[in-house]
Parts: sequence; C-alpha cells; structure tokens
Amino acid sequence: MRDEELKAVFEQQAAGYDERWAKTSPIRDALYFLLQAVFAELRADARILCVGAGTGEEIDYFAKRCPGWTFTAVEPSGAMLDVCRAKAQQGGYASRCRFHEGYLDMLPTEDAFDAATCFLVSQFILDEEARRAFFHSIAARLRCGAILASSDLASDVSSSAYDALLDVWLAMMGMAGIPNAGLEQMRAAYALDVAILPPARVASIIRGGGFEEPVPFYQSGLIHAWFSRRAPA
Ligand SMILES: C[S@@+](CC[C@H](N)C(=O)[O-])C[C@H]1O[C@@H](n2cnc3c(N)ncnc32)[C@H](O)[C@@H]1O
Repeated sequence: MRDEELKAVFEQQAAGYDERWAKTSPIRDALYFLLQAVFAELRADARILCVGAGTGEEIDYFAKRCPGWTFTAVEPSGAMLDVCRAKAQQGGYASRCRFHEGYLDMLPTEDAFDAATCFLVSQFILDEEARRAFFHSIAARLRCGAILASSDLASDVSSSAYDALLDVWLAMMGMAGIPNAGLEQMRAAYALDVAILPPARVASIIRGGGFEEPVPFYQSGLIHAWFSRRAPA
C-alpha cells in the first residue's frame, strides 16, 4: 500500500479507532507496563520521540506517569493526530507535547531524543531496504545510546504455526468485538499490505537501521516488541 493509501485508511478509522480497539487493551497495557521497566533509566526530563503515534495511547500512558517527560508525536494522519492532541488536552499534558503532522523525514534532526517508540508502524513498509532506511531515520534523531522500543506483527508466515496463531489472533479480535467482515478484511490485509516477517528478520532490519542488537522483550500473539540502543555513528 502506498503512503497516501495507508494514510487514507487511518484518516477514515481515526474517529472510531480507540473504541474499536478498546477491548484489546490488556495486550497494549502489558507492553507499556513492561516498557516502564525498560525506560526506568531515563532522566526525569527525558525527551521522547513517538513515531506513528496514532491516537496517542503510548503518550497518554507515559505522560500520566512521568510528569517531567516531553513528547514529540510524529503522525502522517491529521485525523489520528487530532485524537492524540484532544487526549493530551483532556489529560492535562498537551503543553509537554509537540505534534508533527507528517513523516519523520520532515522532522529536524538537531533534536537528539533520549528514547523513541514506534509501535505497529514499520510493518506497513513492504520493501525491506525502505524499512531499514525508516529505522535509520529514527536513529538519526536519537542521541547515541538512546533506547528505541518498537513493535510489529511478526511470524514465519510459511509455517503451520502461523496459520494456527492467525486463527487464534482473529478469534481474539472477534471476542474483542471486531465484526466478522472486519476480520476477513484483516486476514486479506495481512497477506497483502503488512510485511509480517520472522522475528529474527525484523530484528536484523532494526540492527541494519543503526541500532545495537535488539532485545525481544515482549510477545503477545502476533505482536513482538524489541528494545534496542542507538549504535555509535
Ligand atoms: C497501527 S497504528 C499504531 C498507532 C500507535 N503507535 C499505537 O500503537 O496505538 C499505525 C500508525 O502509524 C502511522 N504511520 C503509518 N506509516 C507511517 C510512517 N511511515 N511514519 C510514521 N507513521 C506512520 C499511521 O498513520 C497510524 O497512525
């Protein structure tokens, strides 16, 4: 899917996005809970880059727990970013957020962030070289040694384990209230529009993008998450 098409998908989903995914929150909350331990070393005034911030769920979680942290949300969909901004205003932390509507390449590189999040974003970049370049552009905006926490759908799609896990994953979404038509759309999108690669392959792309060995710290169903440090230039 081209950037413009992907952006249109999220523009259309933005208003109902949080409600649609509300019942899958145990998966997200467990990731954020563990990530708190990964980020425990960060300074009280840490600066966090959130790439593909969406409706701002990870910002909301950390802004409420870490009152000195500031956040830069990078998000191509204006409608998703509007939800993110409204959430920040309602949560009383909007003054600690910068909202960048667009892609990372338009964000100045002079700001060296202490950490970054990039959850469920790189999987939409189908070309491996472009996906590596995407991680490079994150690395270029971090100080040396800064931590990137990223997640993506990952699996060996040629394995029978994937077929079995995909059935369980879609059943979980059905239990969480996603209608049947949406589940079938998702099955089709996973095959065509999402680069679901084996976890070791995703880790190697992150490493190739300028990070030290990624540490796989979380898995829930098809979601895998890693943390990695920006390697010296
Ligand atoms: C599946 S949502 C995840 C949102 C959020 N990170 C979360 O976990 O709730 C993916 C988001 O990434 C954004 N996105 C897609 N391609 C992107 C890119 N190349 N750079 C930055 N954001 C992108 C989409 O607009 C969308 O809001």
